[in-house]
Amino acid sequence: MTAAITVLILTTSTLCGSTVVSGILSRPTNVNLTSYNMNLVLTWNPPKGAAGSLVYTTQYKTTVTAYTVGCVNITALECDLTRLSESAINENGKYTGRVLVQSGSEASAWVESNQINMDGDTIIGSPDVSLFSNGPTIEVSIKDPVFAISALRNIYIFATYNITYWKDSQKEKAKHISNIQQNRVVLNDLDPWTKYCVQVQINTERNSNPSKPSGIVCENTTNEKESPWVAAMVTFVFMALAVALGVVAVVYRKSISNFFCPKDTLPQHFKEYLLAPPNSTIYLAMQNSHPPEEIYHKVGIITDDRTLEEGGPLEEARATCSRQSNVTM
Ligand SMILES: *[C@@H]1O[C@H](CO)[C@@H](O)[C@H](O)[C@H]1NC(C)=O
Ligand SMILES: *[C@@H]1O[C@H](CO)[C@@H](O)[C@H](O)[C@H]1NC(C)=O
Repeated sequence: MTAAITVLILTTSTLCGSTVVSGILSRPTNVNLTSYNMNLVLTWNPPKGAAGSLVYTTQYKTTVTAYTVGCVNITALECDLTRLSESAINENGKYTGRVLVQSGSEASAWVESNQINMDGDTIIGSPDVSLFSNGPTIEVSIKDPVFAISALRNIYIFATYNITYWKDSQKEKAKHISNIQQNRVVLNDLDPWTKYCVQVQINTERNSNPSKPSGIVCENTTNEKESPWVAAMVTFVFMALAVALGVVAVVYRKSISNFFCPKDTLPQHFKEYLLAPPNSTIYLAMQNSHPPEEIYHKVGIITDDRTLEEGGPLEEARATCSRQSNVTM
């Protein structure tokens, strides 16, 4: 008995000769490999009763490869294996992970996780749904969730949408359209002026679970075929008017331009006279004399002899005229 204990102690002390001692620290717990939208994440809890600074190291393998290194000496309690620069996670692979904890020179044993079959087990996130109301119909537009590796349509070629729709507050009477492969669907058995709500899920051939359901989105229908017709008519009328105006403008462009910018219809000699430099004697006389209105005024109102006597300006103007003409000659 004592001999056996001695042997055990001796064995233990020889094993403890190495720098990093395995199996001394208690092991991480709840080691789990999960996949959401085709990522691959190993999570765990710290060892029970652990104290001091702990670092974790993870590894992963497929059913046909040996363990390769994952995250090394991390303090976080998870390792996203799809984020590792050197990782090449395959969408059809079956993966297992493992983790150990180290504290100084002490290390725990490895703890292995569950196995994940990427395309079969990944949790498919919810699709993104938008609605566009068009008269008494609603167009449903669906966007697939973004995958960490590849894309939904590459991995699940025959994925289909299951569209559930109902009149607001009557979800118990919901209708379903399934096996839809297009990501745009028009719901056309709807009542006008009614609020409908829509929720979409993705079904795949290789994943046992449907996707997470999309958020519920709602939209109101409008009147029977009104909107598109009214819009079309208004557009047509406006275009017809524009074309008619264009034609009228082209046909009557001369009259229109004459109306707005009338052509000069004065006789040529008149134009020349008007445009000639102000060297005419009358013009000069008028410039040098008092305004003629004053003269006319006096002539118009007072008709006795004084007008002629006082008509100084007129006489003066005549004198100036003759003098001016003489100078010019
Ligand atoms: C991880 O930590 C251990 C001991 O704490 C150390 O021996 C090892 O070199 C570290 N590895 C890396 C890659 O930092
Ligand atoms: C579609 O979704 C509804 C509600 O989530 C469900 O009851 C129905 O069974 C689904 N249909 C298919 C074909 O998956």
